[in-house]
Amino acid sequence: MKEKVYASIKSIASYVPKNCVSNTDFEKTLDTSDEWIVRRTGIKTRYFASDNETSSSLGYESAKLAIERANLNIDDIDMLICATLSPDYLTMPSNAVIISHKLGIHNKPAFDISSACSGFIYLLSLAKAYIESKMYKNILIVGAEKASSVLDFSDRGTCVLFGDGAGAAVISQTNDKNKSILDVNISANGKYSELLGTPRTTNKLQMKGNEIFKLAIKTLASDVGEILSKNNLSSKDISFFIPHQANLRIINAVGEIIDIEPSKIVLTVQKYGNTSAASIPMAIDEIYNDKRLKNGDLLLLDAFGGGLTWGSSLLYFNGN
Ligand code: ACO
Repeated sequence: MKEKVYASIKSIASYVPKNCVSNTDFEKTLDTSDEWIVRRTGIKTRYFASDNETSSSLGYESAKLAIERANLNIDDIDMLICATLSPDYLTMPSNAVIISHKLGIHNKPAFDISSACSGFIYLLSLAKAYIESKMYKNILIVGAEKASSVLDFSDRGTCVLFGDGAGAAVISQTNDKNKSILDVNISANGKYSELLGTPRTTNKLQMKGNEIFKLAIKTLASDVGEILSKNNLSSKDISFFIPHQANLRIINAVGEIIDIEPSKIVLTVQKYGNTSAASIPMAIDEIYNDKRLKNGDLLLLDAFGGGLTWGSSLLYFNGN
């Protein structure tokens, strides 16, 4: 009988641009306040990339570190996939080929996916499928955003919510199920496509925040409940719950519904705002850098975003 192989997360890394922008900075140009933004979203600061940085350059920095932390050579990487809603180019070339080239990866497949803030969960599902089919052994996945490049800075309802950043992970083959990505659930419903998007007419992000807010809580709570029960696990079995960092109120509401200990919920939204496809890997890297994340910890991830798209994952961290 052929041996079954599993996919596991071998490393995590992130990159945050230098320029920190506080809520009070927005008070100078918009009819808004630190008090409103903190009360409605939890966000206090976010980081914006400089003019000569792009989403691929942020992605490159995180990808380079992810390969290093996985103790791999460039030649070991079989494929690179990038998730972004703010690519360097309108349609092509993809961020993935730009990052690959900069890393020195030659003649290996590279492509972008478009699933907004659910990007990292979609990447995990792809990497898992490619590895379990034995097509590839090491896949580099990158969530990279220069959200500031698609923000309308006159729209107080959106521009205060987002930030720039990137996160990357190496997903590798393992024979040990107890070190693997146990499950990934992804889904979408185009009925809600009008709620969040970047129309060609403006090339700027537009959102019906309030409607998304309600949908997000309902969808995430049922999605997370589903993946836990499908895997015969409860929130008590989880080491860390790492939700997409869009809004503290959404995260707390979902946390309460799934009854997870607050100390297990990883929060970075206050510091970084919503960094879309980069938000989950940046949050995983936060607890890695703080030395809270240990090999063997069981992580529960969930995300939702424009589309609408959503997804969740249960995985053991298998990094060093
Ligand atoms: N400062 C001050 N007032 C504001 C601001 C602001 N920055 N933004 C909106 N307001 C005002 C509105 O104009 C409105 O005023 P009105 O009552 O006079 O009309 C009032 O505040 C309430 O607006 P709502 O939109 O109803 O406020 P809400 O409590 O829903 O909070 C928010 C808005 C924070 C956007 C919330 O709806 C939210 O977080 N939604 C989810 C967004 C999200 O998570 N999107 C993720 C998708 S990620 C992706 O894929 C890219």
